[in-house]
Amino acid sequence: MNISVIGTGYVGLVTGTCFAEMGNHVYCVDTDEEKIENLKKSVIPIYEPGLSDLVADNFNKNQLKFTTDIKEALDNTDICFIAVGTPMDKDGSADLQYVLDVAEKIGMFMSHDMIVIDKSTVPVGTADRVLSIINGELKKRNLNYLCKVISNPEFLKEGTAVEDCMRPDRVVIGVPDKEVVSVMKELYSPFIRNRDRFIIMDVKSAEMTKYASNAMLATRISFMNEMANICERIGADINNVRLGMGSDSRIGYSFLYAGCGYGGSCFPKDVRALIKMADNYGYRAEILETVEKVNHNQKFILLEKALNRFGEDLSGLVFTCWGLAFKPKTDDMREAPSITLINELMKRGAYVKAFDPKAVNEAKKIWKNEKNIEFIDNKYDAVNDSDALFLVTEWKEFRCPDFYEIKKRMKNFIIFDGRNQYTYEIADKNGFEYYQIGNVRC
Ligand SMILES: NC(=O)c1ccc[n+]([C@@H]2O[C@H](COP(=O)([O-])OP(=O)(O)OC[C@H]3O[C@@H](n4cnc5c(N)ncnc54)[C@H](O)[C@@H]3O)[C@@H](O)[C@H]2O)c1
Repeated sequence: MNISVIGTGYVGLVTGTCFAEMGNHVYCVDTDEEKIENLKKSVIPIYEPGLSDLVADNFNKNQLKFTTDIKEALDNTDICFIAVGTPMDKDGSADLQYVLDVAEKIGMFMSHDMIVIDKSTVPVGTADRVLSIINGELKKRNLNYLCKVISNPEFLKEGTAVEDCMRPDRVVIGVPDKEVVSVMKELYSPFIRNRDRFIIMDVKSAEMTKYASNAMLATRISFMNEMANICERIGADINNVRLGMGSDSRIGYSFLYAGCGYGGSCFPKDVRALIKMADNYGYRAEILETVEKVNHNQKFILLEKALNRFGEDLSGLVFTCWGLAFKPKTDDMREAPSITLINELMKRGAYVKAFDPKAVNEAKKIWKNEKNIEFIDNKYDAVNDSDALFLVTEWKEFRCPDFYEIKKRMKNFIIFDGRNQYTYEIADKNGFEYYQIGNVRC
């Protein structure tokens, strides 16, 4: 099949590449000229395991093309995915300017009938708006090509995006009529050969499914963080509580970890967009408002522990931050808890030494003019002369560090563990003062 993917970010690049890997001819389009030029040289703008080789391979085989010319892409394809960003607008709603801009361009340049598939996360009703813009542009050109807009929300997770795309748990498809179902099945069947994983529904329900899924996951995280905060006050251990809860098959173990808050490009903006969407329809989404508030507060939890330990004035102190990305196996820094923590530490006079296996280049963009942060390219060098180590992102390489080496280098032997990667036993054995989430030593 001939496919264009408009928007070559985390979702567009992975999706386009995986379709190309299955033998389709794919045009990946982006307005960012530098990104497209780099991709033509197989320079990948993001860190995503397994992606780089797939891109290079499919580009070299001519299965995958990169262009800034949307007309060229539309002329040569009959299926067009919209995968541009839908960042948060000032009022919390999803900013649809990029999606609507693409809709306009499709209407301006399409030269035959097209199926347009919305993969961006968009508020309910957006597919109708996209169709009406496309038809409006066609009308201006006195053309009556047939265009159908399908909602196909994306559930890939950064860090395992290629794997998720190649073996999706489910493919949710919101269709305006039954005729387009066969095209979607043809497109996705190569990815789900062992059993039918299609969930076909109306367009609005598909658009809503994405928001509801992310809101549910965010709710589980905030719920567990709330349980952790209660545990700290009553002397229970959230790590044990998690095991006891997760073993109930109605609850399960996924997304039950307490920590220092969720971040990323999806949960924060999607929860807020859903709150706003509900509000637009006269409904107050009180659970979601609380999920967001709990998460906001949780991003300060490590700071609070540090202030209890060191006092309000942190000037003269050196702190190490292990992990900057919002989660492991990505370089994505959007809304990462590390940003809140580091800013608050620096605001109180601390000097921060930061290490992340992949996100340092992204982090440097955030703190480019900041003198009180230093990026170190080795996790052990990052603890030199440090008064405390904060573990913020649970990269695997932090799980079993050489505590002897750390101790040789630190000034004070203190660890604030924002992801409960260690235990009091390990800390005691190695001579560290240790703090974790939801489990205060009595
Ligand atoms: N990142 C994720 O893990 C993830 C997962 C599921 C769904 N989503 C959703 O998918 C969508 C895309 O997310 P992302 O993280 O890939 O975004 P991104 O910011 O990484 O990439 C968006 C890309 O679109 C390009 N773009 C903007 N306007 C354009 C235009 N008019 N024409 C062509 N290109 C244009 C930008 O230059 C950018 O490269 C969002 O709605 C997001 O919520 C993201």
